[in-house]
Formats: sequence, C-alpha cells, structure tokens
Amino acid sequence: LKIRIAFNGILGKMGRSISAGLAADPDFEICAGYDLSANSSILREGLKIGKVCVKLCGNMEELFTCKPDVVIDFSNGSAFIELVRSATRHNVSLIVGTTGISDEDLNYARQLVNESDIAAIVAPNFSIGAVLMMKFASLASDYFKGCEIIELHHDQKIDAPSGTAVQTAGAIKNSLKKEHRLKENEFEKYEGARGAMVNGIHVHSVRLPGLLAHQEVILGAQGQTLTIRHDTYDRSAYLPGVILAIRKLVDVKGLVCGLENLI
Ligand SMILES: NC(=O)c1ccc[n+]([C@@H]2O[C@H](COP(=O)([O-])OP(=O)(O)OC[C@H]3O[C@@H](n4cnc5c(N)ncnc54)[C@H](O)[C@@H]3O)[C@@H](O)[C@H]2O)c1
Repeated sequence: LKIRIAFNGILGKMGRSISAGLAADPDFEICAGYDLSANSSILREGLKIGKVCVKLCGNMEELFTCKPDVVIDFSNGSAFIELVRSATRHNVSLIVGTTGISDEDLNYARQLVNESDIAAIVAPNFSIGAVLMMKFASLASDYFKGCEIIELHHDQKIDAPSGTAVQTAGAIKNSLKKEHRLKENEFEKYEGARGAMVNGIHVHSVRLPGLLAHQEVILGAQGQTLTIRHDTYDRSAYLPGVILAIRKLVDVKGLVCGLENLI
C-alpha cells in the first residue's frame, strides 16, 4: 500500500524536486498539491510529475481532504500556524521543511500538536550528510583544542552566516569556544579577516557562483588537524532525509524539531 502524500508549496524549487523524487518511488503517491502561486490553467489541468498528473487544490485546507497519510510543507513560514491548525483538525501528520519559523510559532505549534493525536517533524535541514557533519564535529570537539568553520554558498544567498554554520558552532563543545574574536595581541590588517564570531567559534562565509551549499569544520590540536566537509550539489540531496522523516513519523510523539533527533 502506497503512503499518500499531499504537498504544500508544490510549485516551488523544493516542492518540485521533492515531489518528483517521491513520485518516482513506488512506496509513495502524491495525492494532491497546493501552492499560493498556482494559476488557473494549472488548477484546471493539474501538475504533471513524471508519469502522473497531480490535482492542485484551490486552498490549503483542501489538501487535507484527499485523505493523505502525511502533508509535506516546503513553502513560507507565514502559513505555518494555519497549516498546523488544519493538520490537527483533519488528524493528518505533518513534515515541515520550511525555514524561518519563529520560536514563538514553533512553541505554539508544539502546544497544538500535543493537544491532538498527530505527529509533526519540523526540520530546517533535511540533508542527512549535513546533520551527520554537525554530530561528528560535536564528537570530535572533545578531543581537539580549536575549531573554525568555513561555509560556502551560491552568490544568491543574501544572509550570512548560514543557519547550518550557526547550528554547527552551537554544537561544538564549550572548551573550544573563544570569549573574544581576536586574541589580546592579534589584529586584523583588513577588517573581517578573522571571520565572524558565532557561538564562540570563528565562521568564514564564502559566496560564489557555481557553489550550492558546502561547509568545512576544521579542528586543530598539536601536530594535527581534522577537516569534516559536506557538499550539497543539488536539491535531491534533501530527499533521503524527507523519506527518513516519513518513515519515522509512526514513532514520533508530538512535535520533533531537527533531523538530528531522528538519526
Ligand atoms: N529543510 C530543508 O532541508 C530545506 C532545504 C531547502 C530549502 N528549505 C526551505 O524550504 C522553503 C521553500 O524553499 P524553495 O527553495 O522551494 O522556495 P521557493 O520560493 O522556490 O518555493 C516556495 C513555494 O511556496 C509557495 N508558497 C508561498 N507561500 C505559500 C503559502 N502560504 N501556501 C502555499 N504555498 C506557498 C510559493 O508560491 C512557492 O512556489 C524555504 O523556507 C526554504 O528555506 C528547506
């Protein structure tokens, strides 16, 4: 029996990539999609994903009426609470990849989910490799004396440093964290040469065309360094993490935030 999936934000870059990946897998079926930017012709004709034609709904609530087993969301944080409300009303579990959800909204969503029978997984990073990089860096930081992070992204990214770099810096053990960005006798001949101080760790941000999302965590100790590097080459990198989340949903109680709590 196929797992029935309804997709919110299906016309976005992630929506198209993840829904195509799921549709190509015999275990899953995309039963409906919704996107704020759907025009009348796509609403009339449906969305072609591989060999199937998926019905697009006229509003978000309708997504839940096609009896999906799970609703997946890669859209915009402003729709998050409405999505959680609809999910609890229709008793359908949720997987949310949308980023930029405030702590306040996340706490409120946790409350709504706890009062219901549904499960929800909210993960700002579905790349299993990136999550493992953070776990390995955290483990290694017990045995090293210093750590710096270089994160590299495409030149369309407007914010720096990346959320992954901030999260990685947070996972590094306190003993490696610096109180001040520059040592007492240290100075920068050019401003920013030593990078930004994030959670007590130096983070250097590179922005170049040709890159997608990459990160190096460099740990140093006497006579040795350890470099943990992760590279994302295209959006299909997120698919295995989404599939893992779908399979783990049955074991989840309430709302789980972060893929690292599932692996
Ligand atoms: N969790 C992860 O691993 C991961 C990876 C990449 C991107 N993201 C996040 O996923 C989200 C989407 O990214 P993207 O690159 O596909 O962006 P995108 O702009 O290409 O797509 C977003 C889509 O959502 C639609 N949309 C906006 N508001 C909506 C609403 N209220 N209801 C329904 N649809 C709505 C838009 O019309 C658009 O088609 C972003 O928040 C992004 O940061 C998460």
